[in-house]
Amino acid sequence: MVDNSSVPSIDGERLYETIQELASYGAFDDPITGTQGVNRLSLTDTDAQARRQVCKWFDEAGLETTVDAIGNLYGLRAGSELGLAPVVSGSHIDTVPRGGAFDGALGILTPLEVVRSLNDRDITTRRPIAVGVFTNEEGTRFNCDMLGSAVAVGRIDLATALAFEDRDGITVGEELVRTGFAGEIDVSAMRPHAFVECHIEQGPILRREELDIGVVTGVQAIIWHDVKITGRAAHAGTTPVEYRRDPGVAISRINLKLRELTEESRFGGALRATMGGCELSPGAYNVVPSRARASIDFRNPSDDVMNQVEEELIDFYKWVEEKEKVKVEWERVVRTKPVDFDPAVQGIVAAAADTLGLSNERMLSGAGHDAQEWASVCKTGMIFIPGEHDGVSHSPREHSTKSQCAHGANVLLRTLVALADES
Ligand code: HGY
Ligand code: MN
Ligand code: MN
Repeated sequence: MVDNSSVPSIDGERLYETIQELASYGAFDDPITGTQGVNRLSLTDTDAQARRQVCKWFDEAGLETTVDAIGNLYGLRAGSELGLAPVVSGSHIDTVPRGGAFDGALGILTPLEVVRSLNDRDITTRRPIAVGVFTNEEGTRFNCDMLGSAVAVGRIDLATALAFEDRDGITVGEELVRTGFAGEIDVSAMRPHAFVECHIEQGPILRREELDIGVVTGVQAIIWHDVKITGRAAHAGTTPVEYRRDPGVAISRINLKLRELTEESRFGGALRATMGGCELSPGAYNVVPSRARASIDFRNPSDDVMNQVEEELIDFYKWVEEKEKVKVEWERVVRTKPVDFDPAVQGIVAAAADTLGLSNERMLSGAGHDAQEWASVCKTGMIFIPGEHDGVSHSPREHSTKSQCAHGANVLLRTLVALADES
């Protein structure tokens, strides 16, 4: 047993330096915000370089690294008792296009810092502690978020996942082989005793309420639609409205419908709906487009609301088809259910924050996370820290301070030690 009074503090300076070093993989200067962001799509060369750097850090920290068949990495620190399942803490290093330095990275580098701090003090926990890096969490490149962890827990089968293609028709399987991360370990080999993920909140609540820590109670449901609309190309200067079949107008109507749905009082202001991607082709000033493609994301804590919204959207797609004389094809590429985290893990996280004198409150996650997948196979929880600039995320402006990150890592340290000492 590690006694409570001997639990060390993490090294906040070392943690922040490591976060900054990881952020150099895929760093770019963003002229719009005047800040530096990170562009590290899953299984690109940049992602592979960052993964190799993480493996090097694992090695230096004495972790035994394994890679499974979907490219998930695990760095294992042995416990004192043989045969016990590990406590796993991890997240992702892929980013959205033009994202920030903290989303996902914090969830890998905080448990790495926990391991380094335990090493510094020669502390051994009863159970092993493992740091996990999960493939394609963002789902930007391969249209399926939380992919690596979903495969690990059996929600998505390996063959299906390996066959997912990016916009250029390149598969996950091909990219895993090309980048050297097609591992041999069975994807279901990891069955943790417990799973904990430390993450930025990615929203304004903690910062606004001046709270140090969010004790996460669960994650809301997510649906993604890939929508393709086909119309008829025509001359922009000569084609009267009644002769047009314009996918651009059709897609605009759908985007406005999303906004209307979010404003409906029957959803209590809790519906989020976004058209995050939209392309028109051929894409010229003087051509009525022939095709449009849009990426739609909507979320809510209630599964009933999600079903209702999806039904209404599908009806609306049909209405748009008739109104604009176009063809609307859609595919549901993501459907995750609301997830509740384990009350006991929430209690351990809250107690750790209390012991450290950090203000904390329970909160639901608006964003999706690897932890929501692990919750189907073991007791699971999450720790949120605030972010500056109203907690903005999926943006180069994403920023948490050294002390905000250190608070999350110290709470994680205590949480992991408590869980890893369970029999
Ligand atoms: O989209 C999400 O919620 C997460 O950042 N993957
Ligand atoms: Mn994330
Ligand atoms: Mn993200």
